[in-house]
Amino acid sequence: MKTIGILTSGGDAPGMNAAIRAVVRAAIYNNIKVMGIRRGYNGLIYGDLFEMDITSVGDIVHRGGTILHTDRSEEFKTEKGQKKAKNIIEVFGIEGIAVIGGDGTIKGGKDLAQMGTPVVCIPATIDNDVNCTDYTIGFDTAANTVLDAINKIRDTVQSHQRANVIEVMGRGRGDIALYAGVAGGAEHIIIPEVSFDLNDLCKRLIQGKDRGKQSHIIILSEGMYNVNEFCLDIEEKTGIETRATVLGHIQRGGNPSVFDRILASRMGYHAVNLLRNGISNKVICIKNNHITDIDINKALTMEKAFDNELFDISMVLSI
Ligand code: F6P
Repeated sequence: MKTIGILTSGGDAPGMNAAIRAVVRAAIYNNIKVMGIRRGYNGLIYGDLFEMDITSVGDIVHRGGTILHTDRSEEFKTEKGQKKAKNIIEVFGIEGIAVIGGDGTIKGGKDLAQMGTPVVCIPATIDNDVNCTDYTIGFDTAANTVLDAINKIRDTVQSHQRANVIEVMGRGRGDIALYAGVAGGAEHIIIPEVSFDLNDLCKRLIQGKDRGKQSHIIILSEGMYNVNEFCLDIEEKTGIETRATVLGHIQRGGNPSVFDRILASRMGYHAVNLLRNGISNKVICIKNNHITDIDINKALTMEKAFDNELFDISMVLSI
C-alpha cells in the first residue's frame, strides 16, 4: 500500500488528534504516504485533501478537537455523494482510508467498503456508544471534565445546602453520567438505560437531608427531561432549593487524558498495521485492555450489555 487517506467525522472528541498523529507517524514510518481529508466525508466529496508529513502532526498529541476539522455529511449518504467521493479517492490514488469517529462515521466507513475502498474505523466519541469496543477515544476525558464540574458545583451546593441537577451529554447512552456520577459521589444518576421514579428520588433526597446531608447532586442524561422543569418538580416535592447546570459542549473539548492519548496511539498504530498487511473493513476495538478489530458489518449490529452492577453500586453508595 503506497497511499492512505485519513479523516475525522461526526462530533469531535478529545484524543482525535492523538489518533491522527499515530496514523500519520506509523504510516510514514512504513513508507506510506498520507493524505489528510478535511471536514470528514465532505472533504472526500469536494476534494479537500493535503499531504501530511511528520511535522504536520507535531504539537497536537495534547490538544482537543481535530486538526482535520469534522462534519456530519448528509451528502455522503446519497449515491451521488458517494460517486463523487469515489472519484476523488481514485484521482488521489488512495488505496485505503482510516476514518475516526462514532457510529455515524463507522456507517460511512461501511459505505466506503461497499464502494470497494479498503477502510479501517477508529472509534472516537465522548458518548462511548460504539458497541464493539469497551471504550471509545474521548469518553474518559469527557467523564473527567464532568467530574471536575461536579467537584466545583458540589462546593457551592454544599455552601447553600441546595440540590443541583447537572445535565450531561451522551446521545442516548448513559455512560458519561454513570461513570462521572459514581466517581463524583452523585446522590442520584438518571440515565436512559434504567427506569426512573421522581417520587423515589425525592424520598431519597428528603431522607438524606433529614440525616444532615448538606449537598445533593443529581446527574441527568441529556434528552430525558427539561432540566429546568425537573428542578421545579424536585423543589416542590422536597422543599430543597434546586438549581440546574447544563454542561453542554465543554464536555467535548480540553486536553485528552492519559487514557485517551494511549488508547488513540494504540488504535492508530493498529489501524496502519491492518492496512499495510492488506486487512481492511474493520473497526478497531479495545476489549479487556487488548487492542483488536472486528468486521464493520458485525460491529454495526452488535449490542453492548449495560453495566447494571455499576448502577447498583451508585444506588448503594449514595444512600
Ligand atoms: O455525539 C457527541 C455529542 O456531543 C452528543 O453527546 C450530543 O448529543 C451531540 O454530540 C451534540 O451534537 P452537536 O455538537 O451537533 O450539538
